[in-house]
Amino acid sequence: MAVTLFTNIKQLAGIRTENKLLRGKELAELNVIENAFLIIENGIISSFGEMKNISPSALKIKKQVNASGQLVLPCWCDSHTHIVYAASREEEFVDKLKGMSYAEIAAKGGGILNTAKKLNAASEDELFNAAWKRLEEVSRLGTGAIEIKSGYGLSVEGELKMLRVIKKLKEKSNLSIKTTFLGAHTYPLELKDNHQKYIDSIIHEMLPVIAKEKLADFIDVFCEKGFFSPGETEIICKAGMKYGLKPKLHVNQMNSIGGIETGIKLDAISLDHLETMTDAEIIKLSNSNSIGTLLPTAAFFLRMPFQPARKLIDTNAAIALASDYNPGSSPSGNMNLVIAMSCIQMKMLPEEAINAATINGAYAMEIENETGSITIGKRADLIITKPVSSVSYLPYSFGTNLIDKVLINGNPV
Ligand code: NIG
Ligand code: FE
Repeated sequence: MAVTLFTNIKQLAGIRTENKLLRGKELAELNVIENAFLIIENGIISSFGEMKNISPSALKIKKQVNASGQLVLPCWCDSHTHIVYAASREEEFVDKLKGMSYAEIAAKGGGILNTAKKLNAASEDELFNAAWKRLEEVSRLGTGAIEIKSGYGLSVEGELKMLRVIKKLKEKSNLSIKTTFLGAHTYPLELKDNHQKYIDSIIHEMLPVIAKEKLADFIDVFCEKGFFSPGETEIICKAGMKYGLKPKLHVNQMNSIGGIETGIKLDAISLDHLETMTDAEIIKLSNSNSIGTLLPTAAFFLRMPFQPARKLIDTNAAIALASDYNPGSSPSGNMNLVIAMSCIQMKMLPEEAINAATINGAYAMEIENETGSITIGKRADLIITKPVSSVSYLPYSFGTNLIDKVLINGNPV
């Protein structure tokens, strides 16, 4: 049996004896043990506590790591990404810097359709290799669990290709991976005037194969002006729900058009983005079962207002933080930056941001029994920091890589 003992941990943070989705004030309770030990057995957290209470038999464990001055926390659970894509879009980024509008870029064949064109031209292997590199990159930055969406295929073949790539990533990676089918990301160019035909294809051609081959865990729709209306969102989600896919939705990114109400009605696991929220919507979301997933790096990159994290927390919402890693609105999957931005721009406390990016992120992927906290029996998905003074130092010194080691299922990455 592989057993490792970590001793003299300056702060062991994110401890949960009982699993709980954190709402409102609870988000600020990070639960920290100062000067702690932690034991991993076969990749699973088997014991932890204060150094002064360590048992004499534990001290006989052969493999010991002295974590003096270092913090240990659960790995980031990034519950919203689009990391399967063939090519980056920095040319559009530069066009935008030069003053071109989103509509002008879209008219030039840019945006999601640009990524879809390149994805459809790429082989499954090329897509796998590109996404694998991104997985390696984010795991070194502390991400231990990740949700990955389709949505750049926009055709039966393209969507299935993306989902099969994600399936292969799941099989080969030791990160926890969940898959979301986002066929309803936008309309393919050839059906821009025949929306019903594309929706029919999602419902009658894509979903049956996805269900048969077990290619997705969740269903997503981009509910937005010019994309999918709340009514269309509901129809598509209900078709997915018949196959057991629960909704996790893109809502209220640019406009408030009823996505929140629709998502709550569908009992969505999470409602994501939320840059544009009315006070009434904040209260509705806070009183619902759905997790509000905030994507501050997308707001930052598109120069949108940041999400109303404080108001959501103060009205008792359950919020999660995620990266939205994708080539168009957040070409970064760095959860450390997401946490720093949440504190700096949205006034979240470091403890709130860490909880929102770990245990609540795990809930937003329905893997809370596996990972997301320091809990006996959970996977040893751990971030071991360089020597730092406290958890607050992590967002405070934004942009500095303070991670010494990352363990996924007890294995160093
Ligand atoms: O989550 N808003 C919709 N979808 C993505 C962006 C997609 C893209 O531009 O490629 C998002 O921000
Ligand atoms: Fe997204």
